[in-house]
Amino acid sequence: MRYNIDYTCHPKWFKLAKHLLKLYIKQNHNSLFLVKRSYDRIASVYEDTWSSDYWKLSDDMLDRLSPKKGMKALDLFCGTGYVTERITTRTEMSVIGVDISKNILNIAEQKGNENCEYINCEVLDYLKKQPSKSFDIVTCAWGLGYSKPFQVLKEINRVLKDHGKVGVIENTLLTLPEITWAGILSIAEKPEILDNYPQFRFPLSIYGLTIKMLFSGFYIQESWDGRITYYEQSGKEVIQRLRNTSVVAGYEYAINKRFREEFFQRMATILHHRYRQEQGIPINHRYIGLIGIK
Ligand SMILES: C[S@@+](CC[C@H](N)C(=O)[O-])C[C@H]1O[C@@H](n2cnc3c(N)ncnc32)[C@H](O)[C@@H]1O
Repeated sequence: MRYNIDYTCHPKWFKLAKHLLKLYIKQNHNSLFLVKRSYDRIASVYEDTWSSDYWKLSDDMLDRLSPKKGMKALDLFCGTGYVTERITTRTEMSVIGVDISKNILNIAEQKGNENCEYINCEVLDYLKKQPSKSFDIVTCAWGLGYSKPFQVLKEINRVLKDHGKVGVIENTLLTLPEITWAGILSIAEKPEILDNYPQFRFPLSIYGLTIKMLFSGFYIQESWDGRITYYEQSGKEVIQRLRNTSVVAGYEYAINKRFREEFFQRMATILHHRYRQEQGIPINHRYIGLIGIK
């Protein structure tokens, strides 16, 4: 039997809308601090979940970007340094990786690659301190949506040399729709559990990011999009995975700590009842990629 929920003009949707409006008016959180805190917490398990699938897609982005020997590169939102290391292999030069999470960078540094230099800094702050026309290539793998994409892209354009290239691979706002919808339904049942709402700026589609890149001064060399589907056998397993990945960052700061366990249990039940098929519960991950040339 499917989980029963009324989508019509039920009072709970009004209650949720009222609560969201209240949060919007009062909003005084620092989302950057909360993203950093979430990544610091999951750093030790970051590479265990989903990362190998993401990395295949990052490799594809690098193939299209095609870093050449001797090029000077910058890897923004570098995380545990996968892309940073791949670039250094290709350019045979040292590469700078920038990330806001110290714990994530500790994992990158433990890999001991002498050609990678990791800098613990917010990307926009870092970019603003760099001289114009100083890099041949810049990469942003799975991180742009946590920052201010338009401002970051404009700064990337400034720090790139003429004809330099940027490679972006990113989640869309519509990634993991099953998880998002189960989360919304769980919150709608009890809006007061919501302390904040996530302020991510993931693009809705490839067109949104294309426009931002064009207005930041890039020509688009190529763009692509795609989807990966995973299956989990139960709602509980989906939540377990979720809690070891960056996806949880949004919920970690949205839901009041006192209600978090209850919320995740409710989400697991909804996921199970709404989406369970013969192969399991499908989790659809949607992404986009772009190569821009200055
Ligand atoms: C999904 S991870 C991607 C890591 C890596 N690029 C990879 O492919 O595995 C996103 C990373 O962006 C970092 N991050 C998010 N917002 C940031 C910001 N404004 N400045 C610097 N790093 C940021 C997080 O700490 C996290 O390590």
